[in-house]
Amino acid sequence: MSETAKIIIENKTFEFPVVVGTENEKAIDTSKLRDTTGYVTYDDGYGNTASCESSITFIDGETGILRYRGYDIQDLAVQSNFIESAYLVIYGELPTVQQLQNFRHLILRNAAIHQGMFSFFEAFPNNSHPMAILSAMLNSLGCYYPEMATNNRQRDLEQLDNAATILLSKVRTLAAMSYRMKHGLPFIHPKPELPYCSNFLHMMFSEPYVDYKFNPVIDRALNLILLLHADHEQNCSTSTVRMVASGGANLFASASAGVCALWGPAHGGANMAVIHMLEEIHKAGDDGSSFVAAAKSGDKTKRLMGFGHRVYKNYDPRAKILKKTCAEVLNTLGVSDPLLDIALKLEEIATHDEYFLARKLYPNVDFYSGIIMRAIGIPVDMFTVMFAIGRMPGWIGHWRELATSKSPIHRPRQIYIGSPRREYVPIDKR
Ligand code: ACO
Repeated sequence: MSETAKIIIENKTFEFPVVVGTENEKAIDTSKLRDTTGYVTYDDGYGNTASCESSITFIDGETGILRYRGYDIQDLAVQSNFIESAYLVIYGELPTVQQLQNFRHLILRNAAIHQGMFSFFEAFPNNSHPMAILSAMLNSLGCYYPEMATNNRQRDLEQLDNAATILLSKVRTLAAMSYRMKHGLPFIHPKPELPYCSNFLHMMFSEPYVDYKFNPVIDRALNLILLLHADHEQNCSTSTVRMVASGGANLFASASAGVCALWGPAHGGANMAVIHMLEEIHKAGDDGSSFVAAAKSGDKTKRLMGFGHRVYKNYDPRAKILKKTCAEVLNTLGVSDPLLDIALKLEEIATHDEYFLARKLYPNVDFYSGIIMRAIGIPVDMFTVMFAIGRMPGWIGHWRELATSKSPIHRPRQIYIGSPRREYVPIDKR
């Protein structure tokens, strides 16, 4: 007999099914709780709530495991690349040679943006934040491809191969364009012969008649950063994408909402905060020790950025991979970055300090990714945009999973704590 959980309310016992995942993680299915007991569950921030069943990503935060579709992140990091892993995340299986070829072909074919979209860029003020531009532009894709944005599940799903590759390809073009606009630089068109990351670097850094000088170590590092961000189960932006999709909204609208959710400093903005923190420590002439001492005060504004994670209570496996890549990139470029020295020192102090050990606070993915991107020449205000490019396969995969499931529109409950009923008093009598 399958396991059940008993809940006693007002001396009555109610039984609920237990749902067990592939890796033996267990949940009490409370979907009938309100109907049978009149109660709802209360879990501010959803920290103990599984909002769905998903077969995309598995995380064991206690032991530091991350898998996409069953494949260990370490294996994918060494043997795969961003585009192949994107296919895996979206469709569930590693592609065959033919499938990968078709996928790449569609991505290449969709790299350029519609001429009409250029006028948006002219209209945005020069100091616009690239995340605001990105979310607006991604949503507007639905205007240029209305046949893929019908808000009719079946029809949108039939167009998924096209819509997915349009998003994957254009998110990178739009990101590069927002950078060039901000810096008053002419737009650089994508080159069909270049692979995904090289094409991005070309659109970011080439000048008219002077091509960006490619370096395989940089290309690989960028591939890795994107691959490591490709999915991370029910985080804030992915849950947002699923929430928007649950109402039947098309993929472009749902992904655009994901960008807005990612923008927040507690989510995608943390990689910028790490660099700001390292710069502050450097400017103060500290080697990190004073900052670590302050971080232990419990003051939220003094936290060690890039440390700790809601899910990982161990070393974030992505940070481990990026630490090595960070050293390789700086070596290759011959850059000696004092911020890396400070980061290494912070890690050294914090990973031996009782405060951090007791609270299971270890470096997360943002701790080293910022130093790599800085070395490549990507400005700090583009870091969250880079995260959005990387996370796109996850958002698409979750949109697809939701759209092919029987999941109803997401509509959580609340506990109302406002005023009880009161009489309206007209303004002249108040
Ligand atoms: N530096 C110092 N102390 C910390 C830190 C930190 N970075 N993170 C948590 N703590 C302390 C808290 O003060 C608290 O201490 P207490 O028990 O004495 O009160 C304890 O550790 C637990 O903290 P919570 O906030 O409850 O931990 P939670 O798991 O909810 O927080 C979070 C996770 C938000 C990521 C937090 O660790 C943090 O703010 N880290 C810095 C920001 C950061 O790097 N964010 C990126 C996350 S990765 C990503 O989004 C891609």
